[in-house]
Amino acid sequence: MARIRTAVFPVAGRGTRFLPATKASPKEMLPIVDKPLIQYAVEEALEAGAERLVFVTGSSKRAIEDHFDTDAELERQLAESGKHDLLALVRHIVPPTATCIFVRQGVPLGLGHAVLCAKQAVGDEPFFVHLADDLIYSEVGCLKQMSQHFEKYGTSVLGVETVPQDQTGSYGIVAVEPDGKGAMRVTRIVEKPKPADAPSNLAVVGRYILTPRIFAKLERTQRGAGGEIQLTDGIAALMADEPVHVLPFSGVRYDCGSKIGYLRATVEYGLRHPELGASFRAYLQNVWER
Ligand code: G1P
Repeated sequence: MARIRTAVFPVAGRGTRFLPATKASPKEMLPIVDKPLIQYAVEEALEAGAERLVFVTGSSKRAIEDHFDTDAELERQLAESGKHDLLALVRHIVPPTATCIFVRQGVPLGLGHAVLCAKQAVGDEPFFVHLADDLIYSEVGCLKQMSQHFEKYGTSVLGVETVPQDQTGSYGIVAVEPDGKGAMRVTRIVEKPKPADAPSNLAVVGRYILTPRIFAKLERTQRGAGGEIQLTDGIAALMADEPVHVLPFSGVRYDCGSKIGYLRATVEYGLRHPELGASFRAYLQNVWER
């Protein structure tokens, strides 16, 4: 089975839920402790074997390009002041073997359209899609878990987890059945159904492995929920031609597209941080006892 070497990061969304923080700066650049969300995303994709990183960007997202580009001036300053640790940190944000490709999504027509914008960059091979808002903490990265599944079965795979029934309206929701070979296959997928209409409470989170046939499907996908071209509808069309699997990954997901999810991630990554964890824990205990 071909190894997956391309990861697509749709990062064109404006992040209105975080205004005014996201007025001039991308939501994907919001830090969790000391790293922006998009860097966690890239690290997860690199761990899974990706070496071509395709960012589908939009207006006011230039900071993402700068973050993954060389900053000669900063590197010179850090070298001159003997800050070698920091120099290594900024130099190795992506390894030299990885290539960053930036594609513009000129019009905000939805996630399916964003993925379609990456068609030329991806080519005729399977690829990852990673939504940086969904931060997942796990021993083995979520995309790596999914790529191991892909290596075994060779199908598209959706990262899923169960959500409370009253939250189905925030996700793509799937119905699944055993495929008889040890995997679970999607039988239905619906974008953001009301709880009463939802086929289950198994939600697609922001991790996908897709076969390249998805592009032909997305080219024919009409606007759906919210007037947008939905990736979910493209996947529903793909299922008519080939099986699509789900993987209930192991890990803890933080919905960093919401303020409460972002705060949870900040607190829990702070507690796990090798340098800050102990003092942050002591601080939180102190706050709690006040
Ligand atoms: C998108 C997808 C949805 C998926 C979700 C995961 O929705 O359209 O199917 O469940 O990401 O985070 P969004 O959160 O961009 O509205």
